[in-house]
Amino acid sequence: MSRLPVVAGNWKMNGDLAFVRDLVSKLIEGLPESDVQTLVFPPFVYLQTVHSMLSGSQIELGAQSVDWHESGAYTGEVAPQMVKDAGCGYCLVGHSERRSLYGETNGVVAKKFAAAHKAGLVPLLCLGETLKERQDNRTREVVAGQLKAILDLDKGIEALRKAVIAYEPVWAIGTGESASPDQAEEVHGFIREMIAGEDGQTALELRILYGGSVNPENAGLLFDQENIDGALVGGASLKAPDFIEICRLAG
Ligand code: PGA
Repeated sequence: MSRLPVVAGNWKMNGDLAFVRDLVSKLIEGLPESDVQTLVFPPFVYLQTVHSMLSGSQIELGAQSVDWHESGAYTGEVAPQMVKDAGCGYCLVGHSERRSLYGETNGVVAKKFAAAHKAGLVPLLCLGETLKERQDNRTREVVAGQLKAILDLDKGIEALRKAVIAYEPVWAIGTGESASPDQAEEVHGFIREMIAGEDGQTALELRILYGGSVNPENAGLLFDQENIDGALVGGASLKAPDFIEICRLAG
């Protein structure tokens, strides 16, 4: 089964307008024509600017989060349809920074996943354990719990069929210490097995990305693993040459 590789850049809360324009121009200019799907996740306020700059390019756009309500008195939040209107086809759901810094529980993440899916966005669901959880040998249990919250949704497996998953061990995010290819592959295989328990075809087709300190030096070996279908890249996605090189390696 060959799955289309994906490389996604999560810019987090970085850059200003000039930086964003410069980064997008460099990506448009430098990304090779290839069979790698490329996504960028800019801060909300730059979505429309990036969307117009990307017109005619192969790079696709996503939002870093959405609220689960469709509209209403939710000051400061952004609804799925709003980011769709801004040109997004994708949306990160359950990033570990949202879980740990903004209190998003598995239940909240599941509601956001369902709302994004309902609005026609492709959710990019992030899963991963903390260092303490890994040290306590609880990686599988934690990742299984995060995934189960999605599978337990009404028609959860159907929604997952249209989604992308990113395994991002929390201890590897922004630390410079990536999981080894073996460590990552072990969890990716486990995630795929768990999905196969619900539906074999979905398990075969679902793209599972690795995230956590991916850079041009470690990406190649990670991409060589059978169950790793690309990367969710934070820090290195802010440097055009590094992000372009990671996309090249995924091809
Ligand atoms: P990092 O971030 O590449 O800077 O570790 C990854 C992420 O948070 O998605």
